[in-house]
Amino acid sequence: MTVNKVFMQGLGALALLMAAQPAMAQVKEVEVVHWWTSGGEAAALNVLKSNLQKEGIAWKDTPIAGGGGTQAMTVLRARVTSGSIPTAVQMLGFDILDWAALGSLGDLNDIAGKEGWDKVVPTALQKFSKYDGKWVAAPVNVHSTNWVWANKAVLDKLGATPPKSWDEFIAVLDKAKAAGITPLAHGGQPWQDATLFDSVLLSVGGGDFYKKSMIDLDQATLKSPQMTTAFERMAKLRTYLDPNFSGRDWNLASAMVIKGDAAFQIMGDWAKGEFINAGKKPDTDFLCFRFPGTQGYVTFNSDQFVMFKVGADRKDAQSKMALAVMDPGFQSAFNVVKGSVPARTDVPNDAFDACGKKGMADLKEANASGNLFGSMAHGHANPASVKQAMYDVITKHFNGQLDTAKAPDELAKAVAAAK
Ligand code: BGC
Repeated sequence: MTVNKVFMQGLGALALLMAAQPAMAQVKEVEVVHWWTSGGEAAALNVLKSNLQKEGIAWKDTPIAGGGGTQAMTVLRARVTSGSIPTAVQMLGFDILDWAALGSLGDLNDIAGKEGWDKVVPTALQKFSKYDGKWVAAPVNVHSTNWVWANKAVLDKLGATPPKSWDEFIAVLDKAKAAGITPLAHGGQPWQDATLFDSVLLSVGGGDFYKKSMIDLDQATLKSPQMTTAFERMAKLRTYLDPNFSGRDWNLASAMVIKGDAAFQIMGDWAKGEFINAGKKPDTDFLCFRFPGTQGYVTFNSDQFVMFKVGADRKDAQSKMALAVMDPGFQSAFNVVKGSVPARTDVPNDAFDACGKKGMADLKEANASGNLFGSMAHGHANPASVKQAMYDVITKHFNGQLDTAKAPDELAKAVAAAK
């Protein structure tokens, strides 16, 4: 018998032996870390939970409150350091790439290849779902931050329509103030202040200015007179808040608009989830429009479920979760409730309301015209260390602890130190 034949026979025997072995017992549960704790967010997440339950996969919920995910990322670092690895984690942009670079994430290429994810996920999202050519995350949605949410009855009472320019916006905010209505509902938390900043930057200098300052981190642009204008606008917006804004959660700010206690909220389209969850209808009860002067531009962020490297016994449930997230029917059902739009380009817009349809159309248009940019506030413009440095300066200024005249230089310095 040749050596080769012996080898082949050996392989055959091994295959028989393996087939005779019982398959490794699979844990039929996924543990999911996320920060979707508001009413609208929880309602959206329930769609995924129940889809997985139908597949026989139980859901171990690990919610970590705190909009924007700052707290969730802190808890995650502690968990992973202590060796307690969740199955999947909600994550944004550059954080995904950081975890991938550490070698902590699994490999979804088999599933992604079979399911053709490359063809249906926009490249702007793939930039964060893949690392070194490997799929490491399943994108759930695309949110965008340059939105304003308005109470329609309040606007009618003020005789106002959605403003189209900064000056028009200021005129309506002044009207609300004069009528004794809180013009802007806001929660003073760094990520919320930064969310305003995304929109303000676009309104001041359009896509070029946004890209040069937030994505290219160009020192001259960070220190430019346009940046002074952006900080002036932030200071102006600050004058339209109620006295209790400090530390308020974003969904409580949404509730102020829902109840008619405030006219507007500048917030990403997860705010729509709160209006919907409260039984409100777009165009009838509330209005959604792009931050004045930013129509045509979109600052996006995509929630992705990052799949950690898990033991063989947990892989099956993890794969089922990745498949469930990327299912086109799920992407429609989830995003209708969440306020975001699908992460797949092949999901029809039929089930979406007017704001959802607008979100999908705006995204397509911005992508085609080169005006789609990652949101700085939500981790898609620059790495976490730079984002954090920006948050610090923006918040300090917003709270009156840093003069507008000095803010651009401080921003440039903080970015240079964090890079
Ligand atoms: C996430 C949204 C979430 C929002 C508020 C954003 O960073 O992308 O899904 O609803 O934070 O928590």
